[in-house]
Amino acid sequence: MELRLRIFRFDPQADVEPYYRNYTVQAGLNERVLDCLNRIKWEQDGTLGYRMSCAHGVCGSDAMRINGRCALACQKLVSDLEGQDILLEPLPSFKVLKDLIVDLEPFFSKVDQIRPYLIASSPPEMERLQSQEDRKKMGEAIRCILCACCVGACPVSNENNSFLGPAPLVQAFRRIFDSRDEKRAERLEQLNLPDGVWGCVNHFECTKACPKEIPVTKYINMMKKQIGR
Ligand code: SF4
Ligand code: SF4
Ligand code: FES
Repeated sequence: MELRLRIFRFDPQADVEPYYRNYTVQAGLNERVLDCLNRIKWEQDGTLGYRMSCAHGVCGSDAMRINGRCALACQKLVSDLEGQDILLEPLPSFKVLKDLIVDLEPFFSKVDQIRPYLIASSPPEMERLQSQEDRKKMGEAIRCILCACCVGACPVSNENNSFLGPAPLVQAFRRIFDSRDEKRAERLEQLNLPDGVWGCVNHFECTKACPKEIPVTKYINMMKKQIGR
């Protein structure tokens, strides 16, 4: 089938302002938006900029806005967009480095702020055991691939750069509900701020956008409940 794609283009070193360029590609119904991008890049326009690596929804590098919704290009089947022209734009609320590539440094620095690793005082003799019951308390948070789709979709993150944002909050949730971590109280205190958990106003856009189907809003609300204000 023939598909028409309209793609956001901007090279800050060469362009005065962003513009859109149209492309036409042939694609099978079982191919993904990423296949179309690769075909354009390899066969039509080598100047097109976008990130990709695993092509299987694991690395989280090809998040972008597809027809207005934040998603992974490698997970979006063209059959889901049949009959529509495909509009591709960079993730909102991030600075564009080139075309569909955005600057993720501020995102990863917020993830770093919540110390996304297990903190425990003494090393175990063998390994840190965890019961199945305790493992369940971390829920689906362990599936987060740090793609930033949730942050791009969050209206609060789009308006307020200081808001910690959904993905860092998911990372915090994972450690707060990890029975092996010893900084639970300290971690909750760190989130007890207007730009921490309380910045979230339950739009649920993050939950809808998450390609790993993590109930992001529910987890943020569980942390609010733990803080108990
Ligand atoms: S639920 Fe909270 S974090 Fe998610 S999109 Fe809404 S405001 Fe943002
Ligand atoms: S919570 Fe979901 S959308 Fe957000 S970074 Fe993790 S995997 Fe991506
Ligand atoms: S290319 Fe790795 S998640 Fe899409």
